[in-house]
Amino acid sequence: MKDVYILAIETSCDETSVSIVKNGNEEINTVVLSQIDIHKKFGGVVPEIASRSHVENITIVIEECLNNSNMKVEDMDAIAVTYGPGLAGALIVGVEAAKTLAMIYNKPLIAVHHIAGHIYANRLEKKLKFPLICLVVSGGHTEIIYMKEDYSFQKLGGTLDDSVGESYDKIARVIGVPYPGGPIIDKYSYMGKHTYNLPVPLDDDSFNFSFSGIKSAVINLVHNEKQRGNEINVYDLSKSFEDVVVDILVKKTMKAVKKYEVKELLVAGGVSANRFLRETLKEECDKQNVELIVPELKYCTDNAAMIAAAAYNMYLDNRFSDLDLKIKPTDKIN
Ligand code: KG4
Ligand code: ZN
Repeated sequence: MKDVYILAIETSCDETSVSIVKNGNEEINTVVLSQIDIHKKFGGVVPEIASRSHVENITIVIEECLNNSNMKVEDMDAIAVTYGPGLAGALIVGVEAAKTLAMIYNKPLIAVHHIAGHIYANRLEKKLKFPLICLVVSGGHTEIIYMKEDYSFQKLGGTLDDSVGESYDKIARVIGVPYPGGPIIDKYSYMGKHTYNLPVPLDDDSFNFSFSGIKSAVINLVHNEKQRGNEINVYDLSKSFEDVVVDILVKKTMKAVKKYEVKELLVAGGVSANRFLRETLKEECDKQNVELIVPELKYCTDNAAMIAAAAYNMYLDNRFSDLDLKIKPTDKIN
């Protein structure tokens, strides 16, 4: 079979990214232009600034990716793009750019769901073996998904309030760590001890999660200690927080693995970069003879390579979109 080259665009949040991937699993080149430094001073992503910044950068990033790959748009077999979920103004920039390329160069257009992208980031590691369970943990999502086959996403449960990434970022803000706090809390947790007693989030029989309680507990704790004139040990607090959060994520995920008798577990989304989560899941999977697949660190947070990887099977199945493709900022995967 002839090689398939897909150029993908991802602009759902604060990364302008373009990638070219061959046959769904071989990255030719990926450019990720992060706006983190711009949003940092506001303590989070400012949607208006994000979309303006995508507008300024999208053509530069497309050109850079093509140049790095030594390829032209003419060499592509399809153009893929994230159509949702994400920030409306940010998504529009990517979708309009993709539609323009598809129209001018007469290429098929493939609309990819952002979370499908995160899940298929694992395809850049290894061929997926179905059925499988996927734990999706990002800034906007916390879900356990059962996949019987390619592109079949059955949500078993999800967060009832904050996503796990959101709770990391909020707690980071409370202890004075800059956005995005997840990676720093993760680092701090390895420098501290579990000394703070925090509530265990939604430890029930469901596959649902709730992180608002532990977030409020941390906010109250920091506030009370401040009022008493006590210093918070940010390393110990990070470790105490991470222990509780990772424990519940792993417990419910492994319960799903057992219940659905799968032999493969994927982790997807920005929080899959979390070292303690990766280590704990690995231990549990080894015990139960389950294969754990986690994306390489560069494919954990938002990037266009994962969008190209997800688009590959859609290409093979001729699942193309019309040029009037619209963004869907709140689209669900199932
Ligand atoms: O998937 P992603 O890049 O964007 C969304 O689609 O939401 O995820 C971003 C989230 C942020 O909340 C960030 O703090 C979190 O992933 N994150 C981490 C780590 N690296 C990124 N959280 C915990 N530990 C990490 N190492
Ligand atoms: Zn994401």
